[in-house]
Amino acid sequence: MSIRDAQVGTAPRSANVITIRPPHEGDLAALTAIVNENARAGHLLPRSEASIRASLPDWLIAEIDGVLVGCGSLLLMGPQLVEVRSLAVLPAYRSYGIGAKIVMALVEEARRRGYATVFALTRAVAFFLKLGFALTNKERFPEKVWRDCAICPLQTRCDETAVVIELDRVTR
Ligand SMILES: CC(C)(COP(=O)(O)OP(=O)(O)OC[C@H]1O[C@@H](n2cnc3c(N)ncnc32)[C@H](O)[C@@H]1OP(=O)(O)O)[C@@H](O)C(=O)NCCC(=O)NCCS
Repeated sequence: MSIRDAQVGTAPRSANVITIRPPHEGDLAALTAIVNENARAGHLLPRSEASIRASLPDWLIAEIDGVLVGCGSLLLMGPQLVEVRSLAVLPAYRSYGIGAKIVMALVEEARRRGYATVFALTRAVAFFLKLGFALTNKERFPEKVWRDCAICPLQTRCDETAVVIELDRVTR
């Protein structure tokens, strides 16, 4: 499946327009809040405002009527390899295709930056498969395993699945 074939849901609440854009300094508080609400729910790793600020060019946010409703980021893991992380959509805005739009925009950004491979470690496996990602083995990403898994309390009880998309195989 190509990125073009990926399913995107309908826009929420009739005419409201979803904007996917890089965040700026003024978005930091809302961005930190959405990440850490999802971290408390066990979906994401927590992030401090300072660490988000330091990586701001690697984030995208979704905005509707001036409200930050979703986010995601790219994290460089190797010369050709980036991870999609800190992906979240506010609960009231889920299932409208916003998460898909964020991931597709991050994948396009990864392509624009010249990376070959985008991966995620996730429990939302069906979500990523619909976007053209494929199942893979997380041991394929030793950078991730050493950097994050090594300090994760779950370690061998990890319930996340690795998914990957090879950008040179994606038809634009
Ligand atoms: C995962 C998430 C970002 C998806 O955002 P979204 O805007 O709802 O996504 P879309 O509308 O584009 O797609 C929704 C579809 O993705 C799939 N999906 C979403 N979450 C899923 C999950 N946890 N497991 C399996 N499939 C999932 C479903 O098919 C869903 O369709 P449905 O609503 O008809 O059941 C959102 O559910 C979220 O913020 N979850 C909490 C944080 C999280 O788990 N982040 C992922 C970490 S990698």
